[in-house]
Amino acid sequence: MNEPLIEIKDVTKSFGPVTAVDGVSFSIMEGDSLGLVGESGSGKTTLSRLILKLIEPDGGRISYSFEEKELRSKCQIVFQDPQTSLNPRIRVGEAIAEPARIHSRPPRVKELLEMVKLPAEYAKRYPHELSGGERQRIGIARALASNPSFLVLDEPVSSLDVTIQVEILNLLKELRQTLDLTYLFIAHDLSTIAYMCDIITVLRAGRIEEYGPKELILRRPKSAYTQLLLDSSPKF
Ligand SMILES: Nc1ncnc2c1ncn2[C@@H]1O[C@H](COP(=O)(O)OP(=O)(O)OP(=O)(O)O)[C@@H](O)[C@H]1O
Ligand SMILES: [Mg+2]
Repeated sequence: MNEPLIEIKDVTKSFGPVTAVDGVSFSIMEGDSLGLVGESGSGKTTLSRLILKLIEPDGGRISYSFEEKELRSKCQIVFQDPQTSLNPRIRVGEAIAEPARIHSRPPRVKELLEMVKLPAEYAKRYPHELSGGERQRIGIARALASNPSFLVLDEPVSSLDVTIQVEILNLLKELRQTLDLTYLFIAHDLSTIAYMCDIITVLRAGRIEEYGPKELILRRPKSAYTQLLLDSSPKF
């Protein structure tokens, strides 16, 4: 039986008058791929930043199955737009080596490029010399540099062409298998979530609207809001 990797209990976060996350509780089990869906502004990114301790909650607590000093290396994030998360003046080899240095591990640029299926020569290139899909592969390689066990994927393919989206999703699936990763996968598109996740959490105005196994939620949603998300997902 899998253990909870991360437990979120009654977590709340406000920005001024806006309650972005409002009393959220759930667990992320080791090895899960948990999908987080909800309309824009429902609190998905805020919740993931709370989980990564990039921001502190106003209330509630988040506990980890590992020591909190390991958090920075164990938990990593892949952003939507690799364009903005990569420094245009830094060669991608350096960009990949940097996180490993922060965690005082020897950089393994070649191995990381191999993991994301890019040739070793790419280490010398600058971000503008890559396609969008290749840049996202670099974003993934960077996230893997500290040997994490948990990845937050915040709309990792939303900025890419549909054909490239599938390639990146398949790469992420494969990496989860080979590296035993746990995913928190954020997407607007329910067909992406259906493809990538086993468990789905539906967030609405900072609260959990529905939570459960993918099959159940996609076939027989209990909430009218989830049904609305399903109806408005064209590809689904
Ligand atoms: N640093 C911040 N300062 C002020 N308000 C914020 C901040 N971060 C988030 N918010 C607000 O919190 C709410 C939730 O935002 P969040 O980015 O978590 O939503 P989201 O579900 O990730 O949306 P999207 O799907 O568009 O990415 C929004 O109303 C947003 O304006
Ligand atoms: Mg967001």
